[in-house]
Amino acid sequence: MQNTNYAKYIAIMQKIADVQNASSLLNWDQETYMPPKGAAFRAQQLSTLAGIAHELATSTELGVLLTELSKDDSLAEKEKRNIKKSLKNYNDNKKYTTEFVQDLSKTISEAFQAWQKAKETNDFSLYAPKLEKLVELKRKECELLGYTGHPYDAMLDQYEPGAKTVDLEKLFADVRSQLVAFVKQIAAKPQNNDAFMFGFYDKDKQWDVGIDLLKQMGYDFDAGRQDISSHPFTTNFSCQDVRVTTRINQNDLNEMIWSCIHEGGHALYEQGLLPSEYGLPSGEYISLGIHESQSRLWENNVGRSLNYWKANFKTLQKAFPENLEKISVEDFYKAMNIVKPSLIRTSADELTYHFHVLIRFEIEKALIEGKIQVNELPAYWNSKYKEYLGIDVPSDKQGVLQDIHWSHGSFGYFPTYSLGSFYAAQFFAQAKKEIPNLENQLEQGNMLNLLSWLREKVHKHGKYYTAEELCVEITGEKLNFNYFMEYAKVKYKWLYQL
Ligand code: CO
Repeated sequence: MQNTNYAKYIAIMQKIADVQNASSLLNWDQETYMPPKGAAFRAQQLSTLAGIAHELATSTELGVLLTELSKDDSLAEKEKRNIKKSLKNYNDNKKYTTEFVQDLSKTISEAFQAWQKAKETNDFSLYAPKLEKLVELKRKECELLGYTGHPYDAMLDQYEPGAKTVDLEKLFADVRSQLVAFVKQIAAKPQNNDAFMFGFYDKDKQWDVGIDLLKQMGYDFDAGRQDISSHPFTTNFSCQDVRVTTRINQNDLNEMIWSCIHEGGHALYEQGLLPSEYGLPSGEYISLGIHESQSRLWENNVGRSLNYWKANFKTLQKAFPENLEKISVEDFYKAMNIVKPSLIRTSADELTYHFHVLIRFEIEKALIEGKIQVNELPAYWNSKYKEYLGIDVPSDKQGVLQDIHWSHGSFGYFPTYSLGSFYAAQFFAQAKKEIPNLENQLEQGNMLNLLSWLREKVHKHGKYYTAEELCVEITGEKLNFNYFMEYAKVKYKWLYQL
């Protein structure tokens, strides 16, 4: 029997999605092909569309419909879950007063400009007053949204629905106690050579290699495309139009390879959602952590493995004989897995990366709790880098000012990066159990059984499960850091002969 209320709900949700996807397309264009003079009206167009989407998403009509549907027992389980998630979003949106939204958006735009200036001139004091105002608003936002445990839960919930500060504290305590010591062991060993990664690599040839890597993963070019942008990203306008961008550096082969595989992993998730669920929670990704689990699984567990390069290194050698002819696949594997404490999060290796996240998590939590003040940040930051990574931060530009996130008001976002890697390790361990000869298949360049497994286990469900439920559904237990640690131990013991 056709439920007319549910049909009305679908129609409204699809309309909201249409507006949001139109604005995503404008954003994509802005990052790739828009001529410079297009910027002013583009900002206006994006703001108009955001306004329309917000009106639709907070309309009384939708509110009444969702409330009625939430009491409707005749709905199927998937429909009930969609309604529950949409109702939560609706109620969260309604908690913001117009005054607060305007204040926040004005402060963010000022903080962003101040951050750019401060980073350029290496002067934190230019940014501090705006950031202070922003932190104050974020603390207010926690109260507006509400929470049951820690105020920071309200921040986390926006990116990782259901995540709790207390669980992350336990998780990062494991990171601290196990990973710090392990990285110290590695640091005491002689370093592997990666100089050949930084020779001259022609950009057109690199481009072709990237396209082949994406095709091999199963990325569907009839439902997407790749372009160049200054910061690689994935965006989508439906599951049948999912686009990636890459960045090519002619003097560093790493950038193209890792951005292609990483964004490819994100894109496969979006391409694996179901067209029938367009606009609904069941047609959306679960959380940023689960999204990142898909990019990291392909980037780290697959892409940074010896098997993967046994399949692909010959092609790479043929494209760049002058750089790689005399390099063995084992040397190449060692070069792409150098572990070395460094200052900048975005270029960190897959182990020390998590210290960068841990530091930001501790700082954000302390700011929201009011335990530290904004003007103490540079010194606090530097002391944490000394403590966890053993390095001195030479300037705030390379320290506390390096990331854009806080200036955008994105508090609670960083932990999802680490969650992604840890989920990835746990999922991949399960895939190895369930797919016979997975490692051999990867060594042959056959990625398709892995992709089908991910489609079946993760992609096709959309938001049906929460991140925690999905993890239990797939692996039989909640997120467990031991999987990542086990993966790291096996891999790096070989690489560094520990
Ligand atoms: Co990512």
